[in-house]
Amino acid sequence: MWAILTKPGTRGQQWDESSFFQTGRVEIRFRMRDLAERGIYPSGSALDFGCGIGRLSQALAERFDRVTGVDIAPTMIQKAQQLNRFPDSCTYVVNAAPHLQIFPDSAFDFIYSNITLQHMEPEYAFGYLAEFVRCLKPGGTLLFQLPDHESGRGMADTMRRWAKRWLGMRNYRRLSDIGQSLVFGFRPRMEMYGTNPELVRNILEQAGARVLDVWPNDHAGGNWISYWYACSLDPHDMGHDLG
Ligand SMILES: C[S@@+](CC[C@H](N)C(=O)[O-])C[C@H]1O[C@@H](n2cnc3c(N)ncnc32)[C@H](O)[C@@H]1O
Repeated sequence: MWAILTKPGTRGQQWDESSFFQTGRVEIRFRMRDLAERGIYPSGSALDFGCGIGRLSQALAERFDRVTGVDIAPTMIQKAQQLNRFPDSCTYVVNAAPHLQIFPDSAFDFIYSNITLQHMEPEYAFGYLAEFVRCLKPGGTLLFQLPDHESGRGMADTMRRWAKRWLGMRNYRRLSDIGQSLVFGFRPRMEMYGTNPELVRNILEQAGARVLDVWPNDHAGGNWISYWYACSLDPHDMGHDLG
């Protein structure tokens, strides 16, 4: 649970399971409120992309008719299945592919993703964004979180930003991995990536979505500037005749 939500004091099996799932309930309540303030009231079928052990899928299952949680990690999905309180309406699937071809076009009324796209190299996140749009029903809503950049002003932050720009993100990561393992020895770490909101908007619009609103959040933690993106797929925005 700490690998999913790094709340201080919860490392080393210190999360209480019911408090952990309660955070999901609170989060989904806030997101539904955010959407309601924008005149959007999703219902029907929902996809939770990067579902982990189902913190958000379970909360969605309290509101939606059908929920699908998808994750790249079989261990996460296995645990999610064990903790599934809605076996009739909530299902979990593993998908390690860089696309969502396991789902047909227009499969979901609502697609949600939080603290997931930020952990993969942007080229993968962009591929999934286009897939979200393909999998969204006309009239459906897509809501996801993605950071932009780190806002630190210290000397180390400025040098890191320069190094990223100068070396390119991939080379920067490689060098930083080598440096960290020389200093600390090998240890797992969480990768973080940010993407410029204009680029995100272009990708979504090219895929056929309408970006309804973009607003900030603090979900990426640290000095990261992070945003919610709410999008819709209007029938008349689609490139083909729906009959
Ligand atoms: C920080 S956890 C967040 C889990 C969940 N969204 C939540 O907020 O409780 C990120 C999750 O994304 C999953 N993930 C990473 N890359 C993925 C990918 N390409 N496709 C699906 N899931 C992915 C990880 O396995 C992990 O379970």
